[in-house]
Amino acid sequence: MYQQRCNILLSISMFLFFPFSTSIDTITLTQPLQDGDILVSNGETFALGFFSPANTTNRYVGIWYNKVSEQTVVWVANRNNPFTNTSCILSVDRTGNLVLHEKDHSFVYWSTNISEVVTNNAFSARLLDSGNLVLFDQGVNKDVYSWQSFDHPSNTLLPGMRFGLDRKSGLNRVVTSWKSSDNPGIGEFIYKMEFVGSTQLFLYKGMTRIWRTGSWTGHGWSGVPEMTLNYIFNVSYVNNNDEVVLVYLIRNSSIFSRLVVNESGTVQRLTWHESDKKWVGFWSAPKDQCDGYNHCGMFGVCDPYKSGTFECSCLPGYEPQSPQDWFLRDGSKGCKSKMETRMCEAGDGFVELARVKVPDMSTARVNMSLGLEGCEELCLRNCTCVGYASGDISKDVGGGGCITWYGDMIDTRTFSDGGQSFYVRVDAVELAKNTSKRLKRPISNRFLVIGMPLIGAGLLLCIFICCYIRKKKAKRNEVGVPFSFTNSLKSLEGSFTDTDIGENVDVHVFELSTIVAATDHFSYINKLGEGGFGSVYKGKLLNGQEIAVKRLSQSSGQGMQEFKNEVTLIAKLQHRNLVRLLGYCFHKNEKMLVYEYLPNKGLDSFIFDQEKASLLDWKKRFQIIHGIARGLLYLHYDSRLRIIHRDLKASNVLLDTNLNPKISDFGMAKIFGGDEDEAKTRRVVGTYGYMSPEYAMEGLFSVKSDVFSFGILVLEIISGRKNNSYYQENSVNLIGHVWDLWKQDKALTVVDSSLGDSFDAREVLLCIHVGILCVQEMASDRPTMTEVASMLSNHETMLPSPNQPAFIFRQMNHGVDSRSVSASGGVGSVCNETITILHPR
Ligand SMILES: *[C@@H]1O[C@H](CO)[C@@H](O)[C@H](O)[C@H]1NC(C)=O
Ligand SMILES: *[C@@H]1O[C@H](CO)[C@@H](O)[C@H](O)[C@H]1NC(C)=O
Ligand SMILES: *[C@@H]1O[C@H](CO)[C@@H](O)[C@H](O)[C@H]1NC(C)=O
Ligand SMILES: *[C@@H]1O[C@H](CO)[C@@H](O)[C@H](O)[C@H]1NC(C)=O
Ligand SMILES: *[C@@H]1O[C@H](CO)[C@@H](O)[C@H](O)[C@H]1NC(C)=O
Ligand SMILES: *[C@@H]1O[C@H](CO)[C@@H](O)[C@H](O)[C@H]1NC(C)=O
Ligand SMILES: *[C@@H]1O[C@H](CO)[C@@H](O)[C@H](O)[C@H]1NC(C)=O
Ligand SMILES: *[C@@H]1O[C@H](CO)[C@@H](O)[C@H](O)[C@H]1NC(C)=O
Ligand SMILES: *[C@@H]1O[C@H](CO)[C@@H](O)[C@H](O)[C@H]1NC(C)=O
Repeated sequence: MYQQRCNILLSISMFLFFPFSTSIDTITLTQPLQDGDILVSNGETFALGFFSPANTTNRYVGIWYNKVSEQTVVWVANRNNPFTNTSCILSVDRTGNLVLHEKDHSFVYWSTNISEVVTNNAFSARLLDSGNLVLFDQGVNKDVYSWQSFDHPSNTLLPGMRFGLDRKSGLNRVVTSWKSSDNPGIGEFIYKMEFVGSTQLFLYKGMTRIWRTGSWTGHGWSGVPEMTLNYIFNVSYVNNNDEVVLVYLIRNSSIFSRLVVNESGTVQRLTWHESDKKWVGFWSAPKDQCDGYNHCGMFGVCDPYKSGTFECSCLPGYEPQSPQDWFLRDGSKGCKSKMETRMCEAGDGFVELARVKVPDMSTARVNMSLGLEGCEELCLRNCTCVGYASGDISKDVGGGGCITWYGDMIDTRTFSDGGQSFYVRVDAVELAKNTSKRLKRPISNRFLVIGMPLIGAGLLLCIFICCYIRKKKAKRNEVGVPFSFTNSLKSLEGSFTDTDIGENVDVHVFELSTIVAATDHFSYINKLGEGGFGSVYKGKLLNGQEIAVKRLSQSSGQGMQEFKNEVTLIAKLQHRNLVRLLGYCFHKNEKMLVYEYLPNKGLDSFIFDQEKASLLDWKKRFQIIHGIARGLLYLHYDSRLRIIHRDLKASNVLLDTNLNPKISDFGMAKIFGGDEDEAKTRRVVGTYGYMSPEYAMEGLFSVKSDVFSFGILVLEIISGRKNNSYYQENSVNLIGHVWDLWKQDKALTVVDSSLGDSFDAREVLLCIHVGILCVQEMASDRPTMTEVASMLSNHETMLPSPNQPAFIFRQMNHGVDSRSVSASGGVGSVCNETITILHPR
């Protein structure tokens, strides 16, 4: 009571002292604030009163800078409830609320709403020099506020405000823009702190996130690099049991600075320049397109400094979800894990992205008691962990805290300066890419001076030891050293005879980094195809040679030994009509085969294509049939081992620049020992439409199953139609159709219409005849490739008349499986080959 009386006395005395002054210091029950009065803080920095924004007569109660000549409102009470007459007052009522109402109490425009209970206590409202309007009970501690305007920001954050969550009351203070420059009503832009995963600040437009600050790095947000320049500001982030808040202070109190969310959706920090009498922007966000929330979609990363090119790219180990949109510079669909990525295996590691705003923390977890090393370990241990970063880069390594991400990583961007390091989990291959990039960097002079002699000495020693070991081994045993690939064997370039030329087979062992560089990091642009076995990429070696890299999928189930055996075997197959294997690469779980690159695609892309079919006239087709026959003959009889291809089909016959056929894809090939000629498998692999009946139904395969596939291929080349997609009345498929016509002596009508009449009828009939012989139901009726080759080259031979072909197929599901099952029976061994060690170059 004494206090109150005192205050009244003081007010009255002030009133008396400044008879015309309308400025007061406190609002009490008996001393309300009227329109025209202003309440000035005791340092005279801020003022509270009634005002109208420009271009409107609406009245509001607000707080503005008292010493700044341009009226700058920092807080508004009745934001959504303006009034138009001057008959309102702001007063403290008997319930302890600050209320803005008509003088006659007929209407309340705004109230603090903290209490409904009438008390006898004397409440006062005072404007502090910080710009905080506080309400307190005079009877108790004056520093205990029952309400304060700092808890209810409008569009402005002032120094000293606690922006964020009060854990005790549950109040999360947010900043909302004005509706427009003449309407301080609650606008659509909201700036607020969110706590999913970890604390981040978001700027919303309505319900949509438009910008994010990133995580708190210790001295700033990872998405606000400018914040590290804090010689003016003292920013502190407080996260304890009481609150999670951001507070910034101005070290020099004579500088006026405020943070505003303006009506056009920009968060800006402004400082008052007294000399120019204007507010000058210090910082603002969002600034560039990369600030736009999720601009590059999930697993994307935005880099605004890439001049001239698309600002979006994918995180290491990821590729665009929709390459087309990506090319059209729309990154919103984001990226996906690369198809061959083998995450979560030995060899996983992390690629560091420097100076980034770390991904949205919604999928992240934070453990502040771990250091960066512990963090890497934690992430590596858990398969679902996709990346990690330090929780506090301002602390020394070891105690900086750990953020780990599990799931989608969105809204990552880079800065030219600032940000923090982010570590993306990648598989062994991606890791190698990073290494190869590093190798491209110039070697420093110091390294040249000190490093080179050392390396030179090391190399000499190595060469010496290698030579020694090699000599010893060679002496002890001419055979038996596993996994090496120089060999003398017969090469049968385009010949039917078994001439031994004795050419060395030189299988190159490629370094992973070489392949990575050649394929431009397995860029999706270089992808030639994809199948159950993995993907095929085009590449270019440093010497300019073009290669096709087949990156076998992990599920091929092959071990290193089997893989190397197979590689050795395929490498030995040298024939004009077989695609040449140049080498291989084996790294941890990565298995890759490197083939010669053929610019033309598979035969299927010619014969089954309306336009390209005309590129192949009959002469060419006849040559192609011959070529395939020669290649197959070589596989069956002319190479040292008997090899059954098991997946001969149009798409596995590639054409070189001169349209010569080359059989490719030995992924399913079976090698037979000398006296074996038939085997059985439980798992039937191959392609529906090309499989012989005994193989499809009983799993029996022999050279005759390849002959069957060859027959189909011949008929397809002649007709330009696929066996398995050919349906006509009475005929199940192409074979059935051809057989019907053959019986009626009308076989020539099957010829591809794009050939017109320009074909040699005798040759065509010969080929159809051979084709039908090859697809006879009984394997024993079918000719061998030797016989086929002879029939094709010797037109005069009388061919046997064919029996009923096997054209009744059941629909089979396993036909689509095109994976190799080299582990099952019937595989010959190549262990008894003469081999010597070949070191990778
Ligand atoms: C007030 O209206 C005038 C004329 O329409 C306009 O030029 C001015 O920018 C407006 N001022 C504000 C603050 O909106
Ligand atoms: C002030 O305006 C309000 C409506 O805006 C009206 O209800 C009230 O009666 C007015 N008061 C006076 C004193 O004119
Ligand atoms: C106070 O409470 C009333 C009724 O509960 C509500 O209409 C009004 O918007 C509240 N005012 C403020 C400033 O929260
Ligand atoms: C920054 O502010 C905190 C309180 O928020 C204070 O403890 C600290 O001393 C200040 N630092 C400087 C350099 O002013
Ligand atoms: C604070 O800022 C004012 C105005 O910019 C300047 O004159 C003064 O020297 C500054 N004081 C300190 C301690 O930096
Ligand atoms: C909001 O701030 C941005 C950045 O400072 C500025 O370009 C824009 O004009 C401002 N909008 C308004 C309505 O003041
Ligand atoms: C990736 O390369 C960068 C430099 O290009 C290097 O700083 C970083 O340590 C590398 N990361 C890994 C995991 O090797
Ligand atoms: C954080 O890491 C420490 C050290 O490994 C561990 O003891 C603690 O349980 C972890 N805390 C959480 C919340 O996972
Ligand atoms: C991996 O992390 C996720 C998310 O934190 C968790 O649910 C899962 O249990 C962890 N798995 C292991 C094996 O620790």
